[in-house]
Amino acid sequence: MAKAVSTDSLAISKKEDYKGKKFRIAFIGCGGIAQTHAGALANMPDVEIVAGVDIQQYRLDNWQEKWGKQPVFTDWKKMLKEVKPDAVSVCTPNGIHSQPAIDALNAGAHVIVEKPMAMYPSECEKMIAAAKKNNKKLTIGFQYRYHPTTQMLKRAADEGQFGDLMFCRCQALRRRGIPNWGVFGQKKLQGGGPMIDIGVHCIEMAHYVMGRPKPVAAVGNTWTFHGNKPSNVVSQWPNWDHKTYTVEDMAIGHIRFDNGAILHIEASFVAHIPNDIWNFQLMGTKGGCNWDPAEIYRDVAGTMVNSKAGYMPDGDWKLLFGTKLRNFIDACTKGTPQEAPGEDGLTIQKILDGVYRSADAGGKEVSIK
Ligand SMILES: NC(=O)c1ccc[n+]([C@@H]2O[C@H](COP(=O)([O-])OP(=O)(O)OC[C@H]3O[C@@H](n4cnc5c(N)ncnc54)[C@H](O)[C@@H]3O)[C@@H](O)[C@H]2O)c1
Repeated sequence: MAKAVSTDSLAISKKEDYKGKKFRIAFIGCGGIAQTHAGALANMPDVEIVAGVDIQQYRLDNWQEKWGKQPVFTDWKKMLKEVKPDAVSVCTPNGIHSQPAIDALNAGAHVIVEKPMAMYPSECEKMIAAAKKNNKKLTIGFQYRYHPTTQMLKRAADEGQFGDLMFCRCQALRRRGIPNWGVFGQKKLQGGGPMIDIGVHCIEMAHYVMGRPKPVAAVGNTWTFHGNKPSNVVSQWPNWDHKTYTVEDMAIGHIRFDNGAILHIEASFVAHIPNDIWNFQLMGTKGGCNWDPAEIYRDVAGTMVNSKAGYMPDGDWKLLFGTKLRNFIDACTKGTPQEAPGEDGLTIQKILDGVYRSADAGGKEVSIK
């Protein structure tokens, strides 16, 4: 079982860790999340951003303006050939994760790919095979498993504080939060809506804390009722492209694992609830927990006790990007364990795929192989 990682600070490794050379990372996709990656890497003296690839010229201009006059490309194959980076960060829409990742691995680069790993498990399997064939690292950008609360709950689960885990409830619910940039509403490029886009975060951190059980069956339902209509409510991200909106607004899933545990997931861009919810709760035979607020529930000396941490490191979103990139870079340069390997990405993809397959089958249970 993977040991919990420390997120107390961003451990910056020394320059000489990679045989005295800087670790050279290129980006495929230079949009919103690539900027967050690059911002975190800018704090790492042993790393150099060496190229950017995007199909939109304004993104490339902006990239050079912010991160230096490095070569930029519109074709990732050309970049891989000319730049020969040590690693590639794939930050394109979900449907353009697998091919650049496979090409980068075949070109001899390590790969970190943003979440979700891809759109379908079959793509993930090909990515893992390419990493194995080329003996390169393949990491998934699951930053929430590095969050101090997730780490605390994982240590508690590993210690047996909850006993046998029976049930997990995950919620990734926005009252009104349809992305109004990129292609998040286009099923053919994203694979789905809130389930694959934000549900994935809560599922991956809960599944990690649960000890990564094997999913065997799924039940799912999806609804589209708002995103395909013009924006008519004041909200954080108005005026999304409703004409190209083909994904769900809400999805509910129910996953069965081979150890008998059940995970229930609720994900929505449009949930009529008072406030957004980003949480998971676990219920075991001896205890339970909640992610936000971070609490552990146990019976102690004949009393039901709710415990909170006396000290918790900063779980800021941008710090977590630094921690996930550091874990990836150290795995590449020092051979330290990868906290979010491709195999975990594949398992989570099978869960997402199971929910969508069941929804397509009218909510009937489907098996997960
Ligand atoms: N880890 C997280 O918390 C997190 C947060 C946001 C997004 N993401 C993930 O990051 C990915 C990108 O999301 P984003 O918000 O940055 O989207 P974005 O639309 O801002 O950026 C995507 C970029 O990819 C470029 N692109 C599209 N096709 C390309 C191609 N063939 N070659 C090169 N570039 C191409 C686009 O032009 C765009 O600049 C998605 O998979 C998303 O799920 C992760």
